[in-house]
Amino acid sequence: MFATEAIPSASRSWSSQARQLVDDHLGKLLGHAPPSPVLEAMRYSVLAPGKRIRPLLALAVAEFLDGPRQSALQVGCAIEMIHCASLILDDLPCMDDDRERRSRLCTHLQYGESLAILAAVSLLTQSQCIVASHDALPEGRRLALIQLLCETVGPHGLSLGQYIDLHAGGALASLEAITDMHHLKTGVLFLAAARAGCVVAGATPEQENKVLRFTRHIGLAFQLRDDIRDMDRDGVNMAARIGAAEARRKLRDYLDGALAAIDGERNAAVLQGFVRDFF
Ligand code: IPE
Ligand code: MG
Repeated sequence: MFATEAIPSASRSWSSQARQLVDDHLGKLLGHAPPSPVLEAMRYSVLAPGKRIRPLLALAVAEFLDGPRQSALQVGCAIEMIHCASLILDDLPCMDDDRERRSRLCTHLQYGESLAILAAVSLLTQSQCIVASHDALPEGRRLALIQLLCETVGPHGLSLGQYIDLHAGGALASLEAITDMHHLKTGVLFLAAARAGCVVAGATPEQENKVLRFTRHIGLAFQLRDDIRDMDRDGVNMAARIGAAEARRKLRDYLDGALAAIDGERNAAVLQGFVRDFF
């Protein structure tokens, strides 16, 4: 059931209430019936405790633009499914070969590699289905969203980012090349969430530009913070390259850049609260 009253904005309670909405809605979108082993593996991955930052960004952007929350929730959950598919694939032995995700065994260790891959593929297709079938939105907007989600995953989006990280990772010479790879691996999904919020709200180009400037900075900040927290991890790490102090300075600059993009806007409080809650 969707809440109809406004969530109090710019506060910890905005994020925790919005996260609850997302968790409940994901549970409904991935209901048990009819039973299927693929569906169980999908549920295992998606319903594990995650921060839900991408769907919350879609919700926050829609609220910033006075857009419809129900549609932002639906598309935000589609984006969370894409995110979870990318996590399943990223953890596979042929990729990062990880054991744990969200404090649980990775999906391939819980269900086996073949079922994990089928769950990831099905999450990608299910994400399109739930947008296509969301008849609260006009067909033109649904089509625009499906195109957005497909481009986000495709050969110039997440898939390319993953490829570069796996095959060129250690050889990425310049800081720009690392930033570009971060953008593809993480930033494009943040941008998709923000764009989705803009599409459901029918944003003007000027509004969309502000939202995207905000989001580019948030995506870079998120990845850099991840690197600062995990400086000992193998692979490309921006914070390890530039040092923790410089990384923290850069992180502050990104967050300042995000806040500057929406400064003075009528509903800026909801996006300011989003930054405060996640960073
Ligand atoms: C993890 O994303 C993968 C990255 C792109 C860093 P999150 O940190 O958003 O993971 P969850 O969704 O909260 O588990
Ligand atoms: Mg990984």
